[in-house]
Amino acid sequence: SAVAAIVVAAGQGTRLGAGIPKALVPLAGEPLVVHAVRRVRACAQIGPVAVVAPGDLLAQFAALLTDFEVSVVAGGVERTDSVGAGLAALPATSQVVLVHDAARALTPPALFDAVIEAVRDGADAVVPGIAVSDTIKQVDAAGHVVATLDRSVLRAVQTPQGFTRAALTAAHASGDLATDDAALVEKAGGVVRVIDGSPLAAKVTTETDLALLTHLAAGL
Ligand code: CTP
Ligand code: MG
Repeated sequence: SAVAAIVVAAGQGTRLGAGIPKALVPLAGEPLVVHAVRRVRACAQIGPVAVVAPGDLLAQFAALLTDFEVSVVAGGVERTDSVGAGLAALPATSQVVLVHDAARALTPPALFDAVIEAVRDGADAVVPGIAVSDTIKQVDAAGHVVATLDRSVLRAVQTPQGFTRAALTAAHASGDLATDDAALVEKAGGVVRVIDGSPLAAKVTTETDLALLTHLAAGL
């Protein structure tokens, strides 16, 4: 069945604070969005790709991505809005849809294949996840510890997240917002499976992440 991908790149990158949209920030000499799209395109099973960019920068994003045969569409205020815009731009024939953060610039192409395979195995949604190595404390507004969580049942989830088109469309029809599309499927009662993620799928959120991933990129 046909696979399509949405690469969300319309965020401002407030936490990184680079003064330009995060997807345009260079890592090892190339914008994050170019890294991300090259790796999406390296996965042979993926057909149509929609890149969701800030609405005032569509031409700039399209010019950066001319080598990759993607459509570039305008995003929205929240990440969920941007995913919705990407979904609307994909052909209705795609039965499996991946949603990927441009900020996860170094995600290995093999992770895309693994997510697609797991969707085909019968889940509504599939997310890569990493076991949490730090002990996680739940705190209140004053910073006092409320509980120490059982780390063994926790996973930090990444993208690409994979969905049947039906599950992703239904999740978005709810009108709810979430930082993660799989949470919408979960809320709707769908089957969400976690597979092993990759340290290389880490997200550039802060300056420290950018520095760490720059070192990782040098070793690739
Ligand atoms: N994203 C998007 N549209 C939005 C918000 C986020 O397409 N309205 C994308 C970002 O471009 C990024 C991914 O979603 O690739 C993950 O979001 P995040 O890391 O939070 O990026 P930003 O929202 O840009 O960063 P910040 O929250 O620090 O402003
Ligand atoms: Mg954000």
